[in-house]
Amino acid sequence: MIRTEVRPESMHRIDSAELARAFIEEQIKELQAQVGNGKVLLALSGGVDSSVVAALLIKAIGDRLTCVHVNHGLLRKGEPEQVIRVFKDQLKANLIYVDATDRFLDALAGVSDPEKKRKIIGKLFIDVFAEEARKLTDISFLAQGTIYPDILESKAGIKAHHNDGGLPDDLKFELCEPVKFLFKDEVRMVGKELGLPDSMVYRQPFPGPGLGVRCIGAITRDRLEAVRESDAILREEFEKNGLASKVWQFFTVVPDLRSTGIRNGKRTEEWPVIIRAINSVDAITASPEPIPYDLLFHIRDRILDEVKGVSRVLYDLSPKPVATIEWE
Ligand code: XMP
Repeated sequence: MIRTEVRPESMHRIDSAELARAFIEEQIKELQAQVGNGKVLLALSGGVDSSVVAALLIKAIGDRLTCVHVNHGLLRKGEPEQVIRVFKDQLKANLIYVDATDRFLDALAGVSDPEKKRKIIGKLFIDVFAEEARKLTDISFLAQGTIYPDILESKAGIKAHHNDGGLPDDLKFELCEPVKFLFKDEVRMVGKELGLPDSMVYRQPFPGPGLGVRCIGAITRDRLEAVRESDAILREEFEKNGLASKVWQFFTVVPDLRSTGIRNGKRTEEWPVIIRAINSVDAITASPEPIPYDLLFHIRDRILDEVKGVSRVLYDLSPKPVATIEWE
């Protein structure tokens, strides 16, 4: 479905807390008018867009919003816990948490082609969400974190973005898209004003297939764990050393490759961890961040000490183009 909506010319760029507050007030009224006494369903990923939509709807309609958080087992360390903490515990959201890790990892077992992996993850995500939606009754609205660049890309034919969520025909909902005319920086401004934590509001771009495209080739649970643990160390060190807010996107990759090493006097065959840290504006071009060597060495030591099955650490110096940001 190609989207044709146009952001009203009269709309101010939301660049202050005051404008963010005005937007929130206006949206609460509009959402209440649209939904009436109805009920709304939302797939809550933990990313900033769906989190802002959830927080707006909680303010507007409270527990007539049902959020579904599907954990596909490919999220970063601590992310599902953060979604539960912020939405269920703090905002008192009506949150259904589905741990579908086994289903996703079983479906992905032995699949090494990156596009096949993406397709399996995308399709299973819709299946799991649709199963949850069918269990609920009286829901007539589907909320989505569509933002203005999604609509612009859809219009330009770049992506067939966010339409009806790709749900099967038996699930028909009216869409509810309160941030569809906002740019990313405006969504962040609104999220901050709604009181969402900075780690959610300023979260770096994270691919839908998650760590699945950073565990190169056929995903195994042990190698996925090496991706998750090394990523957590990188994030912690970047945060401590002031790089987290400066570098556009950073993560680790573990290829399906073993090299010879030595541990406690014995020969080993273990994986390398590749660190990727790039700066970009629009993800179309990217260049690696020059990380100080002493910090790189410290991160290396922690990864070699703390991550099971790893005996080498590499830093990816490649710009985009000719490399892409992700490895697959
Ligand atoms: P590449 O690797 O193409 O990545 O240079 C550009 C940006 O897109 C993100 N990316 C994805 N995001 N689903 C997503 O939602 C995907 O399958 C996907 N693949 C890459 C990537 O993290 C980078 O920010």
